[in-house]
Amino acid sequence: MIDNKKVLFSGMQATGNLTLGNYLGALKNWVTLCDEYECFYSVVDLHSITVRQDPAELRKRARNLLTLYIAAGLDPEKNCLYYQSHVSGHCELSWILNCFTYMGELNRMTQFKDKAAKHADNINAGLFTYPVLMAADILLYQADVVPVGKDQLQHLEITRDIAQRFNAIYGDVFTIPEPYIGKSGAKIMSLQEPTKKMSKSDENPNASIYLMDDPDTIMRKFKRAVTDSEGCVRYHESQPGISNLMDIYGACTGKTYAEIEKEFEGKGYGDFKAAVGESVVDVLKPLQDRFADLSKNKDYIDSVIKNNAEKANYFATKTLRKVQKKVGFPERIR
Ligand code: TYM
Repeated sequence: MIDNKKVLFSGMQATGNLTLGNYLGALKNWVTLCDEYECFYSVVDLHSITVRQDPAELRKRARNLLTLYIAAGLDPEKNCLYYQSHVSGHCELSWILNCFTYMGELNRMTQFKDKAAKHADNINAGLFTYPVLMAADILLYQADVVPVGKDQLQHLEITRDIAQRFNAIYGDVFTIPEPYIGKSGAKIMSLQEPTKKMSKSDENPNASIYLMDDPDTIMRKFKRAVTDSEGCVRYHESQPGISNLMDIYGACTGKTYAEIEKEFEGKGYGDFKAAVGESVVDVLKPLQDRFADLSKNKDYIDSVIKNNAEKANYFATKTLRKVQKKVGFPERIR
């Protein structure tokens, strides 16, 4: 609790081009939750270097992501928006938690298996212990709730396991966090292979809607989206392409599956795809405009970066000192 409010933590990587999946699965929910909780939203640049990055590009993307958080509606006066690398407590707690995490647990992580297969020439230890750093992110702020897309649930489970293990030894040190999964948009699939998650790293640009895609590109990508030959708009596992489009449309308009099925009864896929495309343009265009405006204001963004890093450091250090004491590190002499 901070000032009688429960705490929320979440983060996003600044690697690749952010997709509609990142927005609908995470960012959009962050904005709806931000009044209810004391929120920490991090640009997780420490996580990004588990895969090789171009330094200048990483710096630029990190800044763009932080700007996008604000453009999406997160007020930096009320929400702590900061770079993970500006708070050294993440690494310090991560080391300690590494000593409370088993190799077998990390070996089971599907994201590790996927990334190791994709980057076979660089299966580094950071990639393996990635979930421990993520646990440190969350536990450092004593978060009660963590809004994420479905693909991050396994990492939330291991975070809870590590926290419970630590608490069982040292007493009530960490708050046990709960995941928050949105009602729609929790797993947006590829537009080209709808049984696969929409991902920043997909090599086919038509598979993903990027947050900075212009309206024509968005409409074109939806027009080309893979569907089926059944010819009816219905949410069903035998129609993964259409179901995915319904999920996107539902998340953008607030309509239920039943309402969508009714709206497109007797209509062709062409009409439906165009409506989905328009609903996405309606959501992304204002976001892009605000992002463009904010990006011009260098001093403002700089001040957000500085002030919020200080705030994050303050809360992170509180937990870190408690943990250091519990495990037996000598007290600092002032
Ligand atoms: P990342 O950067 O891959 O994704 C950021 C958020 O977007 C969600 N997401 C999706 N949701 C729905 N459909 C999709 N296709 C889709 N793709 C991505 C993710 O679930 C996530 O919520 N390890 C995390 C970042 C992280 C973090 C944390 C998150 C680091 N520390 C602590 C929460 C708490 C990651 O790589 O997310």
